Amino acid sequence: MLKRLQKWFQDKSGIGENRDALALLRLRVDALAALQQQHLPELLTLPWLPPGLDGVSTAIHRADAMLRLPLSASGGSWARAATEYFAAGRELAQTLKSVAPEAQDLLDFGCGYGRVGRFLALEYHDAQRWAYDPKAGAVAFQQEHWGVQPWSGQSLDLILAGSVFTHLRPESAQAELLRLTEALKPQGALVATLHDFTGQTTVSKYTEESALPELEGPIDPRDYVTVYFSQKDWAALTPAGYSWSTRPERYGGTQQILVLRRVEA
Ligand SMILES: C[S@@+](CC[C@H](N)C(=O)[O-])C[C@H]1O[C@@H](n2cnc3c(N)ncnc32)[C@H](O)[C@@H]1O
Repeated sequence: MLKRLQKWFQDKSGIGENRDALALLRLRVDALAALQQQHLPELLTLPWLPPGLDGVSTAIHRADAMLRLPLSASGGSWARAATEYFAAGRELAQTLKSVAPEAQDLLDFGCGYGRVGRFLALEYHDAQRWAYDPKAGAVAFQQEHWGVQPWSGQSLDLILAGSVFTHLRPESAQAELLRLTEALKPQGALVATLHDFTGQTTVSKYTEESALPELEGPIDPRDYVTVYFSQKDWAALTPAGYSWSTRPERYGGTQQILVLRRVEA
């Protein structure tokens, strides 16, 4: 009886005979998704858009994981995915505007396909807007649709890293923070979003990229992870002479928003 119960439980949880069947099913779903991706037009046609987007570009790239993940997680609810996507982007761009209303040189670091960038184009219409992402196609898309320029080390008075340090291993995060502060003008600010601090830093391999392997331009999964920092470990990554403050707003309702500035002498 115990053996039969154990087998029943293993099959239900996918660690018995069903394990291989589930692995095969996953491969089959991934293959179908890859085939479908190849035939999608570059721009998705959203069947529904939230109100209040006058003047905002609604061009969505087919490989934009920031829309594709909520679409997948909601079982295909365009209304939910589009609402979350545009609201998060708008809110973060508006937070940036209240941190540095006069910024003239700003960088969207880890810009993706422009969840925030399309709103930065409105908020900072006359500023020089730079973009950086290891996905060259993402930068090219933003360049074509709202005129950003690819960043290659120019000095900046405002940097946004929206949900980027949530994905870099601590050693990469430290190197990128140093690189960014070196580009920051003396009165400049870096706005970074992070998961809420946890007791201990944890790194996991599950990301939106691993959930959507069909998207083009994948990043090496060894470099792109999900990280929850402890406050102590995060503080230890901060370049000397800089300190963080926390904004009252949140990114997408789930991430804290931190502002890094040079400490006044
Ligand atoms: C979760 S997405 C966020 C995209 C966008 N910032 C937003 O908030 O919608 C993380 C982005 O970081 C980019 N990225 C990955 N590794 C990076 C690195 N080392 N430096 C800068 N960006 C990176 C990814 O390609 C991806 O576009």
